[in-house]
Amino acid sequence: MTQVSMTVNGGAVVADVEPRTLLADFLRGEMQLTGTHLGCEQGVCGACTVVLDGRIQRSCITFAADCDGADVTTIEGFDDDPTMQELREAFSEHHALQCGFCTPGMLTTARDIVLRLGDIDERALREELSGNLCRCTGYVGIVAAVKKVAAGKKPDVAAAAAPVISRLDGPRSPPAPSSPQTNGPVTRTPVPAMAASVGESAGGTSIEERVRVAAPAEKVWSLLSDLQRVVPCVPGAEITSLDGEDLVGKVRIALGPIKVTFNGQAKVGMDTSKREGWLTGRGRDAGQGSSAEGSARWTVVADGASASVIAVVLTWKLSGPLAQFNRAGLVHDVVRRLAATFAENLEAAITGAAPPRRKALGGLGLIWSVIKARLFSGS
Ligand code: FES
Ligand code: FES
Repeated sequence: MTQVSMTVNGGAVVADVEPRTLLADFLRGEMQLTGTHLGCEQGVCGACTVVLDGRIQRSCITFAADCDGADVTTIEGFDDDPTMQELREAFSEHHALQCGFCTPGMLTTARDIVLRLGDIDERALREELSGNLCRCTGYVGIVAAVKKVAAGKKPDVAAAAAPVISRLDGPRSPPAPSSPQTNGPVTRTPVPAMAASVGESAGGTSIEERVRVAAPAEKVWSLLSDLQRVVPCVPGAEITSLDGEDLVGKVRIALGPIKVTFNGQAKVGMDTSKREGWLTGRGRDAGQGSSAEGSARWTVVADGASASVIAVVLTWKLSGPLAQFNRAGLVHDVVRRLAATFAENLEAAITGAAPPRRKALGGLGLIWSVIKARLFSGS
């Protein structure tokens, strides 16, 4: 296996790939970006076209391992691109698709033509499009649609080459987690101001949750700074080994029929004077092939003399079968209930009232309580 780091649709991705893994298979299988289609799988039809470092590229004949450090944009990454928006509308207007199989590659190529060459004559346009084959529509409508969008436009090579998502995204917060293989020091920067409660960006999904614990801040912090005691309070989490800042452990997740166990490593840091802590890590589930990377930042604030509030910002990015749970809206309720369970367990650990629960993250009861709440709230 080879480890590769790349940017896909504006988000940092670190993955282990076989030397023979093709970029198209990686995007579709690992990233669930199935808008990249596979037709001929030998570089002829253009269905698999993506933008790689500012140039269109056939992902079916590109090795993922060769994309270390690359910037990849798939059809999913053009959602907010104005040229792509024009092209989509023109394709509809001119009936430039039927089954749609060739369409993602056709649109990606068409956008490149419009931005790189501007308003060119039809002969040149047909030549430029000749690397993308359509087996059902014919090319009259496709050419008419691209001509309409290109009309009157000047070449804009810089726009064609710039990574689309990076230009559209604002700054990412918190920063992407460091790789567990990195032996550098843990970042010691102060915890930034808490982010919005739910957010999704190409860099990952973030949720902020605040839980109130019926115990003084110093007692809560004392427990939170002892990872061997606090991790069992997180449903489904378990420490395998802890050596200074380096933590190895596992998290069991049960979301309906999906049951995975992420084994991973993390780096942990704490600032006792500010009652702040942070963790960055990544893990992989060998069974389902999902991988996760993320970070957590937490701080404890006194809420009167006998209570405190723990504010936590979680940021994660999932790939593989669990990628659908990158949508913050889908998991926000689960996280809220998870946080409530964590707070109960924490209080119990502080007061000695009951042993912490060890059920898997997102057990059936948890999922059912979320579904029920949504059903009866009518949301
Ligand atoms: S699938 Fe890549 S060119 Fe046909
Ligand atoms: S629309 Fe069907 S292959 Fe092009």
